[in-house]
Amino acid sequence: MSPPLANSAAARDIANALHPYTDLKAHLETGPMIISRGEGVRVWDENGKAYIESVAGLWCAALGFSNERLVQAAAAQMRKLPFYHSFTAKSHEPMIDLSEMLIQRAPVPMSKVMFANSGSEANDSAIKMVWYFNNAVGRPKKKKLIGRIKGYHGITLASGSLTGLAVNHRSFDLPLAGFLHTVAPHHYHGAHPGESEEAFATRCADELEKLILAEDPDTVAAMWAEPIMGAGGVIVPPPTYFEKIQAVLRKYDILLVADEVICGFWRTGNYWGSGTLNMRPDILTCAKALSSSYLPISAIMVNERVFQALAEESHTIGTFGHGFTYSGHPVAAAVAVETLKIYDEMRMGDHVRSVGPHLQRELRRRFTNHELVGEVRGVGLIGAIELVADKAGHKNFDPKQRIGARLTKLVEANGVIGRTLAGDVLAFSPPLIITEAEIDEMLDGVGRALDELAVQLRREKIVAVS
Ligand SMILES: Cc1ncc(COP(=O)(O)O)c(C=O)c1O
Repeated sequence: MSPPLANSAAARDIANALHPYTDLKAHLETGPMIISRGEGVRVWDENGKAYIESVAGLWCAALGFSNERLVQAAAAQMRKLPFYHSFTAKSHEPMIDLSEMLIQRAPVPMSKVMFANSGSEANDSAIKMVWYFNNAVGRPKKKKLIGRIKGYHGITLASGSLTGLAVNHRSFDLPLAGFLHTVAPHHYHGAHPGESEEAFATRCADELEKLILAEDPDTVAAMWAEPIMGAGGVIVPPPTYFEKIQAVLRKYDILLVADEVICGFWRTGNYWGSGTLNMRPDILTCAKALSSSYLPISAIMVNERVFQALAEESHTIGTFGHGFTYSGHPVAAAVAVETLKIYDEMRMGDHVRSVGPHLQRELRRRFTNHELVGEVRGVGLIGAIELVADKAGHKNFDPKQRIGARLTKLVEANGVIGRTLAGDVLAFSPPLIITEAEIDEMLDGVGRALDELAVQLRREKIVAVS
């Protein structure tokens, strides 16, 4: 790639911007991909090349990239009341409307909603609520938190500690003390030879119980779980998994927090991933599709038991000393209210239950037997294909070979922006508005990229010539 022209947007990016989730040194040479505009499920780069966004940006732009109603909702609220806060009992209509809508739509009875600006902040807030809760109910020792290996809950100090991915810990001195990780419910990699999915689910629950007992149940406060793990590789737990996990948590009075940051708002075919996976959380966090990501906003819902304890403790102290300047920001809240109305009016659930099976069927039909593909997985409009060096042995490529990064580039060359995760997993989480024809076009591009990659890897003798 030739170096960007001096003073070009790319050169100014290289000179000034520090990018999240980027090899910062390599970026000085390779520079950014600059996205200039979006429409429907597509975005265009600065050279005018169009791409289908197969992950809706970061699993989030559920209504695509040109929803005019969201623009109007933001503009109208900007004119009326561009900012107000929610500290010291102040409130405003967008936040009140949004709180009510979320409580009405919760997967299990929930009592109250608090707002933040990102998934990480929502999880950090929930962590602090769990600690506050256990102090309130007289269990000051019950504070440890359990995440899962490959779970993703964000990158702030506490949410990043719950996250179970090496890149989020290494050299950041995380996880902090008191954050534990249990096994990932990934049958493809985790099961013993011949072990059924249900037997594997039982073993995952046994592992959880062992961890709790080893730590002392009186010191373990809560477990965090995404219904389907997203950033860790789109891992769909086996049948009966959450039933068995929840039985263990109930036994030791450990709270369950559902991280619905990706799975919420119809992604899996139900309003919440909790509905799809039979989770009955005490606390639920969500973000991303809450506003179709047109503005940053996230939410934490707590049930009555948790709320009552928070209320008592805050009354004793005099205030609930937590909240952000932008908690429930009126413009973001107005956009979220409009987003939820659009989901209702479009009957988004019907749409996802109609096109989701098409995505799942086509992923499997086209790629299960591909020489580079080990596993195809997913539910609704979330899915993944995992590349492997050895199909029979379920063995991944050496990470140093950077196969995923190569696939990302090839997919882009074929008109699709894709996201490859650790372990060479190509994830799919397109805007929920995607049609069957657009799914086919997206998978055509991915198929061409995979075939090109296979040719290259055979030529380089990284895979065997068949
Ligand atoms: C399940 C889950 N939780 C939390 C987060 C963190 O959200 P944010 O990047 O908005 O902090 C993410 C982000 O992808 C996520 O997928």
